[in-house]
Order: sequence, then C-alpha cells, then structure tokens
Amino acid sequence: MLNWDEYNKEETQVAPAIKNTVPEAPKHVEPVAQPEPVAEASPATIEAGSRAEAARKAMETFDASEGVKELDEMHNGRVQVDDKAMINCKADLNQLVPFKYDWAWQKYLDGSANHWMPQEVNMTADIALWKSEDGLTDDERTIVKRNLGFFSTADSLVANNLVLALYRLVTNPECRQYILRQSLEEAIHTHAYQYCIESLGMDEGEIFNMYREIPSVAKKAAWGLKYTQQISDPTFQTGTTETDKQLLRNLIAFYCVLEGIFFYCGFTQILSMGRRNKMTGTAEQFQYILRDESMHVNFGIDVINQIKIENPHLWDEEMKSEAAQMILEGTELEIQYARDTMPRGVLGMNASMMEEYLQFIANRRLTQIGLDEEFKGATNPFPWMSEIMDLRKEKNFFETRVIEYQTGGALNWE
Ligand SMILES: [Fe+2]
Ligand SMILES: [Fe+2]
Repeated sequence: MLNWDEYNKEETQVAPAIKNTVPEAPKHVEPVAQPEPVAEASPATIEAGSRAEAARKAMETFDASEGVKELDEMHNGRVQVDDKAMINCKADLNQLVPFKYDWAWQKYLDGSANHWMPQEVNMTADIALWKSEDGLTDDERTIVKRNLGFFSTADSLVANNLVLALYRLVTNPECRQYILRQSLEEAIHTHAYQYCIESLGMDEGEIFNMYREIPSVAKKAAWGLKYTQQISDPTFQTGTTETDKQLLRNLIAFYCVLEGIFFYCGFTQILSMGRRNKMTGTAEQFQYILRDESMHVNFGIDVINQIKIENPHLWDEEMKSEAAQMILEGTELEIQYARDTMPRGVLGMNASMMEEYLQFIANRRLTQIGLDEEFKGATNPFPWMSEIMDLRKEKNFFETRVIEYQTGGALNWE
C-alpha cells in the first residue's frame, strides 16, 4: 500500500530531545586559557542587561546596500506588469503589485470574505444521531465513516502539495497570495474533519488510516501522490519543456482530479444526508468546504489555462492526450469509490446515478482546460449540487452566516 514515509522524509524526522543536545559536563576539567576579549561582542557573550544597547549599536552601522544590491541583481529593480509570468519568471516576487492576473487577486479577496471555522458549527444533533441505535442505517454509517476517512487525509495531501511543491514553482505573487489563502483553507478543512471525527467519538486510528488501509480510498491517495513526488524534490526546477510539463501534470492532477473529481462523490453523499435532515452539522461543514473547493478548482483551471497561453509549446498533442487520460483515470477511480461506498441504493441515490454525475463532472473538467467531452450526453442527476456551489451566493456568505447564527438556525437544506 502507500508508503507515506517515502513521500516526505523530513516531516517524519523528530527533533532530538533537548537533553540530548546538551553535552554532559566532563568529570575532570583541565584549566583552559581564556581568550583575549574581542572588540565586538558576539550575541552569545553580551550580558542580559546590555542587549538592547548592543542591538542599537549594531543597527547604527548596519549596511542595507548589500542586500538591496543582491535583490537588484536578481530581479532588475521595479517590476512592470509585462515582466510578470506564471512560471519561470525572473521579476521580483516580493512585489505584489502591479497586478497582472486580477482574477487571482479577486479569488484571494473572495476566499477571505468566506472565512469560517469548524467550531462555529453546532454538532449536537449529529452526536445524538450517531450515538443512537437506530438513527442511521448501516449503509449511511459507512458513508459517513468512509468520507471522513478519505477527506481527513486528502486535504493534507493537497496542502502538502501546495506548500512543499507548487508554491515555489508558481512564479507570480498574486497567485502565490491565493495559494497561501488556499493553504489556510486546507488546514481549516483538515481541522473540520478532525472536529467531526472527535465530536462523533470515532476511532481516530481507523479513520485517519483509511487512505492506507481501504483500497478504494488508498487508490485515490496514491494516484495523487504520484504527481507530487517529483516536483516536491527541492532540487526540481522548471525551465525545460519536460519539467514545465511535469508542473502542468501536477496542476491537472491536483486541481482537475483530486479537488475537481475525487471530492465529488463524498460531497454529494454527505450533502444529500444533510438535505434529509441527517448529520446536519457534518453536512454544514461539508457545505462550507465545498464552497471553498469550487473556488480552488476554478483558480487551478485559470492557472493551467494561463500557463497554456504563455507557453503554447507545452500544450502539444501528447500533453493534451495525457491530460485527458489523467482526468479519465481519476473519473474511473471515483466511480470505483462510489460503488464501494454505495453497494446498494441509499439516500435517494445509487452508484450508477453517481457514475453519470461523475461523467458529467469529468466532461466539465475536460472542457474547462480546452479538451473535448468524453461522455456525450451525460447529464447532472443532482442539480441541487450546482446550487450549493453557486458562486453568486458566496458574495454574501459572511453576512448570511451571521444572520443564521443570530437566529440559531443552520443552513437551509431545501
Ligand atoms: Fe480542502
Ligand atoms: Fe482545496
């Protein structure tokens, strides 16, 4: 199964305990000649009471010109809009403005306007329902557990990909600003799943290990990890056709497939539960997450398309065919996941309805990056999902949420 240790060795390293870093005092100490005092005291030798004075003196003589010169040599001074590019850009990435990609900045603003925290959602009804003997059927319980199992680690895979691989290689500050916002949202999503798991008193070891132990979950995680491995290597650089294509594959894998397809069976199942007045707290968490995720997908698709515009040589027939294959592989894995989580009809849906929905979603992902639809005539059997994702609602999200909390109500599942 998966070997998570291989993926990110440095995360598994444990800092040595402090006591091990302090050498034991030798039993017998030979007298050592003291060095002559030096003119400039090093921070280690400054006495506690005189540190502020020493810092003031050091800053009086601090010469910033060296650092500024280095920045100038690296980046050619003030940034002009035309200097900016999505990848392989040499302009200074510390200068957010002038904006070149207004859509990226707008998404950062929209994401920030939708800020929420998991503890704001009332989980009381879920706890009572989960603990009651006959509140949920076995099939419904499987759906809750499998989805918390998949999502609790999936958002960590996405976050790791963002901060350990993608951030460094996307060379545009307004896009990086959104990637930072998205990274925070992924942390909040992982928090939300953990909050549900803890509230419901689930076996944490069982849930958090599903991505290694349950085949239909593990396959999805392993498929995504494959596309992180190469570009998360700190020595990996873009700048050749092959390495630029590798970055493009990563973007397609994560934005079009992981966030764009792998989340959709689970979201639909849990939100369907909420619409039937079951596990409404969990479903409310998933609804907020889905709104965030639909913006993540839109951002990723804009990035992919912008890279294509700026680097048309990357989008050759081979790359197009590979991109389509990736989206179809992801669709197949998600269909397998739907069958595994819904061996029978449940919550007014079944695996074959989900298959059609996933084909509908796959068509959208293909056309969003300029490829042909694969599943002709696939329609959306769950139109209410589109309403939940409706971006127009997001504009007033914060205001709506405050009003709903004031009245003590949850989201309306009609
Ligand atoms: Fe997420
Ligand atoms: Fe996301």
